[in-house]
This record gives sequence, C-alpha cells and structure tokens, in this order.
Amino acid sequence: MAQLWGGRFTKETDQNVYMFNASLGFDHKLYREDIRGSIAHATMLCEQGILTEEEKTSIIDGLNGILQDIEDQKLSFEPQYEDIHSFVESHLIDRIGDAGKKLHTGRSRNDQVALDMRLYTREEIFATDKELRELLSVLLSLMKDNLETYMPGFTHLQKAQPTTLAHHLGAYFEMFKRDRMRLADLYERMNYCPLGAGALAGTTYPLNRARTAELLSFTGPTLNSMDSVSDRDYVIEFLSALSVIMMHLSRFSEEIILWNSNEYRFVEIDDAFSTGSSIMPQKKNPDIAELVRGKTGRVYGALMSLLTTMKGIPLAYNKDMQEDKELAFDAMETVQHCLVVFTGMIRTMKFNSDVMAKSAMRGFTNATDAADYLVRKGVPFRDAHGIIGRLVLYCIEQNKAIDELSLRELQEICPTFEEDLYEAISLKTCVEKRLTIGAPGPEQMKQVIALEEEYLQTYPALA
Ligand code: ARG
Repeated sequence: MAQLWGGRFTKETDQNVYMFNASLGFDHKLYREDIRGSIAHATMLCEQGILTEEEKTSIIDGLNGILQDIEDQKLSFEPQYEDIHSFVESHLIDRIGDAGKKLHTGRSRNDQVALDMRLYTREEIFATDKELRELLSVLLSLMKDNLETYMPGFTHLQKAQPTTLAHHLGAYFEMFKRDRMRLADLYERMNYCPLGAGALAGTTYPLNRARTAELLSFTGPTLNSMDSVSDRDYVIEFLSALSVIMMHLSRFSEEIILWNSNEYRFVEIDDAFSTGSSIMPQKKNPDIAELVRGKTGRVYGALMSLLTTMKGIPLAYNKDMQEDKELAFDAMETVQHCLVVFTGMIRTMKFNSDVMAKSAMRGFTNATDAADYLVRKGVPFRDAHGIIGRLVLYCIEQNKAIDELSLRELQEICPTFEEDLYEAISLKTCVEKRLTIGAPGPEQMKQVIALEEEYLQTYPALA
C-alpha cells in the first residue's frame, strides 16, 4: 500500500478497510485532469517564487512522462495506490525525487479532487453538446425533406388532427435545443476554479488563484474555500440536464417503437440498427430504441443517488463525496452513447410516407376541419360540432371516411354541405391551412426551419 499519509499511524490499515476506502478503481478516469491540474499548480507555484524554475521543469516533465506512459499503456493503475492523486504523486516522486515532494505545496486532495471533477465534468458537457448538435442537424435535414409527408397527430394516442412528419420531428428539435441551452447555462455557472481552496480554509502560501484559473481556462477562481471543496452542484445540475435529455430520447424511442410495430408500420429501422430473434426468424426488433428507453432509468438513478448522497453532508469535505463518481461517470458515458446510436438510427430509418398519409386519412383527423367548414357557412361552432359528431357515427357504421361519403349522404345529415367540402377537408388543405407560427403548414414551417438553421449556425458546439 502506497499511502500519502502514514506518519501519524502506528498500525497497517485493515485490508478490507483499504479496499473499501480506495477509489483508484474508478477515479483513474481522472488521470488527464489530475495531471493537467498539477501542471497548472506547479506553473503558478513557480511564478510565485514557491518553486524554482528547475523544480517546476522537472515536475512538469515528470508529469508529462507519466501521462504519456499511461496513454501508451506502459503504466497501469496498480491497486496499491489509494486514488488517482496518490498514484500520480507517488509515481512522480519515484521518477524525479525531492522536487516531486514539493508539488503538493499549498494544495490538499480536497481541492485537487474538486478541480479534477470539474475539469472532467466540463469535458463531458462539451462532448454531450457535440452529440446533441449532431442529432439536431440530422433532425433538421429530415424536417426539410418531409414538409409534405402527411401523418396523423395524436392526443391520448388517438388520431386527432393531421400534421406532417417535419412538424412532428420539429417538436423533438425544440426539446433537444432546450437541452443544449441547459448545458450552456450550467457550464457558465460551473466554470470556476476551486484549486487553492486547500483542505477547506485556503492556505498561507501566497498562491495566485486567478492565475491557476486562467491556466486551466476557467472564468475565475471560486470565492469561498469551504464551498469550493464541498460543492458538487455542477455534477447534480449536469446529471439533471442528462436526465432531461434521456427523458426526451426515451419519449422519441417509445414513438419509434410504436411506429415500427406491425400495426403502425410508419417506419422501418435500418438492418444496421436493429436486431433479430434467436427463435423467431421473422423478427426485426427495435432493440436500440428499447435500450435507450431502458437506460433512462439508470441516468435518473445517478441523479437521485448523488442528490441523496449530498443531502446530509456538513461543511466542508467529507468522504461521502467520493461517491459522486461511479454513477456520474456511468451516466455521462451512457448518455453520449445513447445519443450516438440514436442519431445513427434516425438518420438511416425509412419513413413509410404512404402508410402515414393513409393513416392520417382514416380516423377522422379532418373532423375539426369539417366543423370549421360549417362555421364558415354560418353554422354556430357548437352546432357544427354536434353535426360532425353524428356524421362520424354514421361513417363508423358505414366504415368510411368523411370524404368518402357521397354529397347526398352528407346533405342528409346537414343540407349546408356542398361540393366544396371535399376540397376543404382534404389532407393537403387541412395541413396547408394551419399557418400560425409553430403549426404544420409547410409555408410557415419553412420559416421555422430557416430560424432553426440560423440557430445551428449561431451556436456551434460548446468548447
Ligand atoms: N478519493 C477522494 C475523493 O474522491 C479524494 C479526496 C480525498 N480527500 C481526503 N481528505 N480523504 O473524494
């Protein structure tokens, strides 16, 4: 066991306790951030006259060597090191001797881990934003191609009014756009550097915290050293934003699963993005969408777990906080993986526009428009609603759509109907007439698409 704190102890740590306490098994993921933070710290210590030029250079070279060896798999994370911080520091001392022992001057593992976790979370925010942006650009191109792909819009999973595929996908565009805004927003709030907070009460060395912050591309230093070492709000906020992303992906997945079913047949998932059954040869299953829907629970779980971990912790650092990592890392990785495969799935998915249009023609999605037709001919809306209700009942008995009835049949129910009804309630008219901003009418959707295009250009991926 290579511990950094043996001095005041007279007994070896119990083996079970050692394993229970150690975090290298999962915090080794922070090796890049840990080294990056140490390089910035050493640079600042030297500028402040706390380290000599030679010591600084030796430390930085040593750290870069360790980084390189980890990446080249020449150095592995042996379990005798307690955590990533001990691992890096012990190896540095082995390699460069006394200068290595000075690196931890004016620093505690409490502000060190707080920094590492912030740097790591920041990179994950960037990576997630990039995947979201990719998904948005696929959605936008599908929207452009499907301005006149008619489909039923649903409420209560019952056909309600006709819409278009572009309009339906546009709803998801808005959701994922808001997800990006949440990331940009929490990034602004979290981009402050905790290094220099020490164990909890700062340090007596003349550190230049603003300089360390600058070296690590932070907006500035955090302003309270106790908060700096015990704040994990940014992980919670990120997990919350990730949970919302998963909720959106899960709703979308649910629709794709329905649309891909034998009953709907609105879409066909590409062979490369579906799987078969070991027993039923005819099967082509939407496993990717189901897995995305399923993994949503796991991401919500990470959020609940950390909220619960943090809720009773007195100031400042407590070891409970080491539990911020495993589930958070898993959630961050899971969401990016989901975004990548989900985007691939919808990019390659075939939309059966004929089936969608036929479905929109059945199920009385034009009933509201038929009522509006009567209103335009002077019938009060409440009466028109009743007339169309009776008309629908008659259609159900006859197994016909409203526009499949003859004019005679129509006029028997209400003499106000004329030949122009057919045109007025055709699928095309029903969609084209919906021209308020945000509605599916293709002319107005083109304006929305232009705005979304501008949005994508104005907001490149965060970095
Ligand atoms: N492994 C610890 C964590 O992840 C590092 C900080 C340890 N600090 C301490 N005083 N024990 O939180």
